[in-house]
Amino acid sequence: MKIAVLPGDGIGPEIVAQAVKVLEALRSDGLKIEMEHAHIGGAGYDAAKDPLPEATLKLSKESDAVLLGAVGGYQYDNLPRPMRPEQGLLRIRKGLGLFANLRPAMVYPELVNASTLRPDIVSGLDIMILRELTGDIYFGQPRGIRTLENGERQGFDTMHYSESEVRRVAHVGFQIAMKRNKKLCSVDKANVLDTSMFWREIVTEVAKEYPAVALSHMYVDNAAMQLVRAPKQFDVILTGNIFGDILSDEASMLTGSIGMLPSASLDENNKGLYEPCHGSAPDIAGKDIANPLATILSVAMMMQYTFGRPDIAQRIETAVRKVLQQGLRTGDIYEEGKQKVGCAAMSDAVVAAL
Ligand code: NAD
Ligand code: IPM
Ligand code: MN
Repeated sequence: MKIAVLPGDGIGPEIVAQAVKVLEALRSDGLKIEMEHAHIGGAGYDAAKDPLPEATLKLSKESDAVLLGAVGGYQYDNLPRPMRPEQGLLRIRKGLGLFANLRPAMVYPELVNASTLRPDIVSGLDIMILRELTGDIYFGQPRGIRTLENGERQGFDTMHYSESEVRRVAHVGFQIAMKRNKKLCSVDKANVLDTSMFWREIVTEVAKEYPAVALSHMYVDNAAMQLVRAPKQFDVILTGNIFGDILSDEASMLTGSIGMLPSASLDENNKGLYEPCHGSAPDIAGKDIANPLATILSVAMMMQYTFGRPDIAQRIETAVRKVLQQGLRTGDIYEEGKQKVGCAAMSDAVVAAL
């Protein structure tokens, strides 16, 4: 198992160090794990004036999987766009062809009270958001800032989805739904956007190949509302890049904290990049208070999807559950009566439970 480790910025290095502890524990248990570190994001800019240094992309391509922390920081916010940390992330996703981004939102029974929503709304929740990751307004050309004939300046971006892009992610969505509760809700804005009208047409076509899956469509504004009104109505949510970005952050709060939400970004062959859904959290960086569980659970997804070891994924998830049962909580999921611990102590407990 050759894994490229890209800590990135902010809390990235802290949380990735915790996930690496888990990988090291698995290695001393007999798994053949090789890890190599490289820079991405602001760290890439600092080291090589490039948010995705060539060596990082090369290492990632040569590895079976990539473990990533997060990118971004205040000190980089005014750089020209190609130099910004976020570009490093977008380029590695595109460069590795990682079009299918799986963002599962699961509520652990131990955390039903950590959610800002009522326990009866969220308990038992288990939904999978499948976000298309290499298309949409994120990558559409042309884009930029221009001056109009009347002299006024204007910012602009282009949203588009080609048929093959929609088709391949739709197939992934239906295949995931087949292994779950066989319900897929495609989320779009087809009442306004041509891109979405086209998306809906293609998804409906692909659905014919999966008659066992119940397909529904929902407008994204309604979906945002339904996610907090009655989230358990969903099984798989299939959506585009920007809607998926927003809805997955929203869904994270059903689970208690964005610090709990892992992700897998896969190519056609299940080679993948694994990262928490949250960002570099510069407001809490360097304080040993970040929640490392999203990153540790991303390692579980890596074992399942890239390495075909659901047994190890299960072991990691069980260890996380055990630590939550012991009452350990980082600040973001803390509730009265529990034991508040830092980032490193939390992962030490997971390793012990493992
Ligand atoms: P963020 O996700 O970094 O933080 C949002 C809030 O959640 C903050 O209050 C933060 O402290 C908290 N939070 C996030 N992760 C946490 C964790 N593991 N434990 C406890 N609390 C946690 O989003 P933001 O503040 O909008 O963005 C900060 C920077 O991160 C920006 O530069 C942004 O571009 C970048 N970003 C990167 C990624 C990524 O690398 N995948 C994702 C989102 C944002
Ligand atoms: C995420 C982040 C990224 C995105 C940014 C940092 C480019 O918000 O991974 O969710 O928008 O995809
Ligand atoms: Mn996001």
